[in-house]
Amino acid sequence: MKTVATIAELRSRLDADRAAGRTVGFVPTMGYLHDGHASLMRQARAETDVVVASIFVNPLQFGAGEDLDAYPRDLDRDTRLAEAAGVDLLFVPGADEMYPEPVLTTVSVAQLSEPLEGASRPTHFAGVATVVAKLFAIVGPCRAYFGEKDFQQLALVRRMVRDLSFPVDVVGCQTARELDGLALSSRNTYLTREEREAAPVLYRALRAGVASILAGERDPAFVRSLMAQIIEAEPLARLDYAEVVDADSFRVPDPLAGNLRLLAAVRFGRARLIDNVGVTVPAPTQGG
Ligand code: PAF
Repeated sequence: MKTVATIAELRSRLDADRAAGRTVGFVPTMGYLHDGHASLMRQARAETDVVVASIFVNPLQFGAGEDLDAYPRDLDRDTRLAEAAGVDLLFVPGADEMYPEPVLTTVSVAQLSEPLEGASRPTHFAGVATVVAKLFAIVGPCRAYFGEKDFQQLALVRRMVRDLSFPVDVVGCQTARELDGLALSSRNTYLTREEREAAPVLYRALRAGVASILAGERDPAFVRSLMAQIIEAEPLARLDYAEVVDADSFRVPDPLAGNLRLLAAVRFGRARLIDNVGVTVPAPTQGG
């Protein structure tokens, strides 16, 4: 595996690969890699000829007072994990390489960026869309792998790629979980032992929401409040939101129907964790 720090070097290597007929797989990350990232890298390894992963803690997607400075970093460990997962090129640009001058051009994806994470973190998705657009412009035509844990981010990236005709195939990959259901996240490292024990309540609440829908519940308010009650019963959890939306539009269908996503964000001490699960409800048939 080769570590590359400049845009020019990454571009010329990937251009040469594509000119030789090789396909490119791309896994964008903010580092502090875990097995969820490794599974994206392994999938890219299995499906494409040259695998590039990026590590860049993107300041644009952190709001004032968020954890930009505290965000965990360990490049040596990340390098070992990426290499073991089959990455060929590890792109690790500095902030000066990515943003040599103040950024005047930003990308925002209306509508999809407004509810849920967008409401809680108003500048977050413009920061994500801008850096992902920039990374796509640097990497060029590729298959890009994103985890479903950040489901709203995945939807937004897919839409941006369609709207702006990026030559990128976006591949959504299943969330990797601990045995007790907690979704893998770099931010899990912030949890104390007690908070770590409490944190699986997030996934339990989402699954209870799904179970209620599978049992016939069609009122979004009921499902929302069921999930909220389960989370709020955990003394170490502070609910940010729990919601059920249409998986494409992110609007709340009432009654619930179609391809749904249940999403929640919960604080445990310093950590703000998000998770989601999907369920499909057939539309009611005429006359019954
Ligand atoms: O999901 C992440 O780690 C980040 O939001 C991403 C896509 C690498 C952009 O900084």
